[in-house]
Amino acid sequence: MTTTTRTALVTGGAGGIGRGIGARLARDGFRVLLADRDATAVREAAEAVGAEPWVLDVADPDSRREAVTRTGGCDLLVNCAGVLRDARVRRLEPPVFRRLTEINLLGPIALARLVAPDMAARGAGAIVNIASRAWLGTFGSTAYSTAKGGLVGATRSLALELGRHGITVNAVAPGFVETPMTEGLPPEVRRRTLEAIPVGRAGRPDDVADAVSYLAGAGYVTGQVLVVCGGRSIGAPYATPVEEAS
Ligand SMILES: NC(=O)c1ccc[n+]([C@@H]2O[C@H](COP(=O)([O-])OP(=O)(O)OC[C@H]3O[C@@H](n4cnc5c(N)ncnc54)[C@H](O)[C@@H]3O)[C@@H](O)[C@H]2O)c1
Repeated sequence: MTTTTRTALVTGGAGGIGRGIGARLARDGFRVLLADRDATAVREAAEAVGAEPWVLDVADPDSRREAVTRTGGCDLLVNCAGVLRDARVRRLEPPVFRRLTEINLLGPIALARLVAPDMAARGAGAIVNIASRAWLGTFGSTAYSTAKGGLVGATRSLALELGRHGITVNAVAPGFVETPMTEGLPPEVRRRTLEAIPVGRAGRPDDVADAVSYLAGAGYVTGQVLVVCGGRSIGAPYATPVEEAS
C-alpha cells in the first residue's frame, strides 16, 4: 500500500497560533509550508517545528500565487494570518479598516480561490479559516469583528459551493489566546477578559491547533464554526452564582 504525504499551507505561520498549528500538523504527518510576511521569524518557526518556511504577504496577489504554486498541490489550507488594529468607531480610519480587511478577509478568500481548483480536480481537500470569537461582536473592535464575521460568512458559503468537489471548509473561532497579538492588551482589559473565561485560563496555541487538526480530517463536517474559547462565548460571564449571591 502506498501512502502519499499531504501538504498543508499555513499562513501567519510565524505567529503564536500559526506556529502551533504548523507544529501539530507536522506531527500529524503533513508536509507543512509555514508562510508569513516576517521572513526572519518564519524561518525560525519553520526550523523549530519541522516545516518549510515561505515568505508570503496574504494581501498581495502575486505573493499568494507564488505560495500556492510552491505547495505543488495543497491538501489543506489554513488561513491564519491576521492583524488586530482597531479603535472605537469614531476613531476608526478608513485606510486602517481597508488594510485590515485585505489581510483578515480578502486575502484568505483569495487563497481559497487559488487552492480550490486543484483540490476539486483531486476530489479532496480542506480549508480551515481562523476567525475569532470577536465575530459575535466586540466592543471597540468594529473593523476586526467585521472582517472575522465576513470570514465566517465566506466559510459557510464556500462550504456549500465546494462540498460536491470533496472540499470541506470550516472556521475555528478562538477566544483569548496568549500570543504576540494579545501581549500588548492593557492590563485591565486582560484581567476582565480572563475573568470572563469559564474554564479559568487563557487559550494556548495548542488548543486552536487541536481543533484545526480535527477539522483537517473531518470529511463530513463542513461549513461549521468551532469556537475554541474556554466557554467565553456562552455569555453572562459576570453573573454571580446563586449560592454565592444568597
Ligand atoms: N491571539 C488571540 O487571542 C486570537 C483570538 C482570536 C483569533 N485570533 C486569530 O488567530 C490568528 C493568529 O493570531 P496570533 O494570535 O497567532 O497573532 P500573531 O500576531 O502572533 O500572528 C499573526 C501572524 O500573521 C502574520 N501576518 C500579518 N499580516 C500578514 C500578511 N499580510 N501576510 C502574511 N502574514 C501576515 C504576522 O507576521 C504574524 O506572524 C489571526 O488571524 C488572529 O486574528 C487570535
